Amino acid sequence: MIGCPDDVRTTSLQPSSIFRRFMIESPVFVAGHGGMVGSAVCRRLSKHPEIQLITKPRSELDLCNEAEVNAFFEAEKPATVIFASAKVGGIHANKTFPVEFLTDNLRQELATIHASYRNGVKRFLFLGSTCIYPRLAKQPIKEDELLSSPLEQTNEAYALAKIAGLKLCQYFRQEYGVLYHSAMPTNLYGPGDNYHPDHSHVLPGLIRRIHEAKQHGDKTVSIWGTGTPLREFLHVDDLADAILHLCQLENPPDWVNVGTSIDHSIYDLAKMVASAIGFEGDILTDPSRPDGTPRKLTDTTLLKSTGWQPKVELKEGIRDTYQCFLNEYASGHLRSK
Ligand SMILES: NC(=O)c1ccc[n+]([C@@H]2O[C@H](COP(=O)([O-])OP(=O)(O)OC[C@H]3O[C@@H](n4cnc5c(N)ncnc54)[C@H](OP(=O)(O)O)[C@@H]3O)[C@@H](O)[C@H]2O)c1
Repeated sequence: MIGCPDDVRTTSLQPSSIFRRFMIESPVFVAGHGGMVGSAVCRRLSKHPEIQLITKPRSELDLCNEAEVNAFFEAEKPATVIFASAKVGGIHANKTFPVEFLTDNLRQELATIHASYRNGVKRFLFLGSTCIYPRLAKQPIKEDELLSSPLEQTNEAYALAKIAGLKLCQYFRQEYGVLYHSAMPTNLYGPGDNYHPDHSHVLPGLIRRIHEAKQHGDKTVSIWGTGTPLREFLHVDDLADAILHLCQLENPPDWVNVGTSIDHSIYDLAKMVASAIGFEGDILTDPSRPDGTPRKLTDTTLLKSTGWQPKVELKEGIRDTYQCFLNEYASGHLRSK
């Protein structure tokens, strides 16, 4: 057994205790605090001054470096870890650098989960993603679809690393009785998103393209594909809220979907973005571009059964996100890498 103080192990977990809630134990280390998810978690935690928050920039702590990670945990002794760090990227980056996506993510997960256990971390919340479910997962996707059939080829390396991290948490919990568990968020949007012209996700991509069309006085804007695929979006502040909710459950599921279970066509999404931006031109589709899978929707019954549901309505979330885009742009902090 890996060295661990006895008091870290929890007593047997009864299914009936799933709704019992606890205070989040301090100090809380948020790994990847500068990212979109990590910064939303920190914003949410800042509403609780009683919780001591620990963060460390990558320049001072490379989570892939096992020795640095061990020294950090020995010095800081966090009680709770929220693991929002990862090497993430779009389809092109994933296809071009599978070695880096697999090894960087495995290394940081292994180093952080092991160091957590050795140093008495009682609660570890790992971030998975609904993109690690199989390519042909049954819709809406339930948690038990994981590993039920082959993965999507384009992000296989990333998904394998994420599944390994999620499973390692499950195995630590089974074998050593610690509360290490995972959240599986759907597509996210909100402050701190990436607006790279080619590599961004669909919603920030639409915000940038339609904003620029308005700036140039264009009469039309073109969106990729037929506009018919259905997609689900969750505001990152809702995810942060769900993460803190899960961190307070006595007996959370090993992994649980976090989403809205509401989907919209890409065309309707583009109309919502255009309305938030005040673009009055026409939205054209471009069927020569790939659509991707026709529908991707998560089943969030399990999360709802624990007493949580999202609050940010999509139109309102898009309006707020556009305001953040303008502020980030004006301050020179728009993320576009
Ligand atoms: N965004 C989404 O739509 C989405 C959807 C579902 C799930 N998720 C999951 O949520 C998690 C966070 O995603 P995100 O969108 O917040 O990504 P992000 O904005 O790219 O943030 C990732 C953070 O991790 C840090 N990091 C990466 N490698 C590191 C290392 N070796 N050492 C120290 N720090 C390191 C990054 O630091 P630098 O800034 O220095 O690179 C960054 O602060 C990921 O696990 C992702 O799979 C995201």
